[in-house]
Amino acid sequence: MKFSSVGRLSLLALLGAGACSSDHAARDRGGDARMMAAPEPTPKRARASAYDPQIIDHARAMLAEGRETFRRDTFGDEAFWGDTLNLHRSIESAVSPKIALAVGLKVDSEALPDELVSKIKKNEVNMDDPATTVALLKLNAVVGVQGFFEESGKMKSVGITCALCHSTVDDSFSPGIGRRLDGWANRDLDVGKIVSLAPNLDPFAKLLGVDVATVKKVLLSWGPGKYDAELDKDGKAFRPDGKPAATLLPPAFGLAGVNLHTYTGFGSVTYWNSYVANTQMHGSGVFFDARLKEADQFPVAAKSGSWNSRPKEKDRVTPKLAALHFYQLSLPAPEPPAGSFDKSAFQRGQTLFEGKAKCATCHVPPLFTDPGNNLHSPAEIGIDDFQAERSPTKAYRTTPLRGLWSHQKGGFYHDGRFPKLDDVINHYNDHFKLQLSDAEKKDLIQFLMGL
Ligand code: HEC
Ligand code: HEC
Repeated sequence: MKFSSVGRLSLLALLGAGACSSDHAARDRGGDARMMAAPEPTPKRARASAYDPQIIDHARAMLAEGRETFRRDTFGDEAFWGDTLNLHRSIESAVSPKIALAVGLKVDSEALPDELVSKIKKNEVNMDDPATTVALLKLNAVVGVQGFFEESGKMKSVGITCALCHSTVDDSFSPGIGRRLDGWANRDLDVGKIVSLAPNLDPFAKLLGVDVATVKKVLLSWGPGKYDAELDKDGKAFRPDGKPAATLLPPAFGLAGVNLHTYTGFGSVTYWNSYVANTQMHGSGVFFDARLKEADQFPVAAKSGSWNSRPKEKDRVTPKLAALHFYQLSLPAPEPPAGSFDKSAFQRGQTLFEGKAKCATCHVPPLFTDPGNNLHSPAEIGIDDFQAERSPTKAYRTTPLRGLWSHQKGGFYHDGRFPKLDDVINHYNDHFKLQLSDAEKKDLIQFLMGL
């Protein structure tokens, strides 16, 4: 307290001194001039350059454009999901809203007209009829799924967007129906089951050199909240112990200031956006990464050439990357709900996190990842190297922990191997020989829940 008030005083004194010293110092201070009882600025000493408002306008435009891209842009991937796999045919014939909600798809209540809302409330909408799903798609109300329609209203194709896996809703209307929460991991979404519904799975079978039955088996092995973003590069569908190779869908919020992204640090946010939009969503664009042509580590990518993707026609991804990047970095980690954790335990937990439990050596506050090259070897964190070896880095990235409370479903660590935070803490306690008491473990958990 004392220290900071002294600090503030001397800062004011300095600024004050500057105000009297010279015009040069006054110019250098720029916008800070308004903090003092300064004379009215004359036009010559205007507060901001003409460039400053341009920066603000640019930020606003990038945010709006990036949000639209994140929520609705398919980058032309309907050529794959609809035109090639015919997923829209399955939706039309077999996916009722009840089924859609059961496989974890979410409905944006803000996109529903009032009339429809009151009909749903009165139970006057048939939630067992796939035609209702098609109607919802026409309203742009199924989060992350974009329908394409003939003039007659018949479904022509379907594509997916980033929001499919990285958005959910607040359930304010009913479970699975509510207002969008961009960046929150959808841990209910069963991507594998949805893809397995497509009438044509031949493209996956051909790529992986297996039959369609095997493709289905792999897709159905993932389960809710998981996806395998490296399968089309290395063809590894299962871990050596027979468990699925898929990883949890991570949140896409709270990433500003974090160096490397993905569980194994493939690259920056914008690197990964290009990787996903082109090679996972099958959008039409350019993606280049010579690390992925190493045939020993990435046999499928080396053969398919997906390490160097070029669009058949227009590049619909690259022009979107800047605003998409900007939008993601703007997503704050959500604050924990009031009363959801014990505040005094949180404080004791913080002391442990930064002290005895040594967590903050890697999860450095307030980013909760390592500033710098945020990677660690599998041995360092005491786990197997299967997933690390699927990345060019051969390492694990220190997970930023803000907003952890919002993605507890599915467990923790890249593959959800630790079902509860207790299991994570016990793992660290054994691995780092921390000798934490039961009470200390509980405090650490309250700290994590309050981040
Ligand atoms: C089919 C589901 C799916 C879709 C669609 C998808 N992602 Fe992801 N995303 C994942 C998975 C799974 C990972 C983790 C991959 C890994 O670590 O190997 C991931 C990782 C990320 C990360 C890294 C998060 C972190 O903590 O470092 C970002 C950022 C991201 N995705 C953004 C996007 C954007 C932007 C799009 C749209 C262009 C998108 N994703 C589309 C499933 C998806
Ligand atoms: C040597 C660096 C290091 C130290 C020390 C460390 N962590 Fe981690 N932490 C990591 C890495 C790397 C991961 C990612 C592991 C994975 O996904 O497989 C991780 C993951 C986690 C996760 C899972 C997050 C999620 O979303 O799945 C939690 C929780 C966590 N750490 C908490 C802690 C706590 C609490 C401590 C102290 C007891 C600690 N960590 C100490 C590097 C570290």
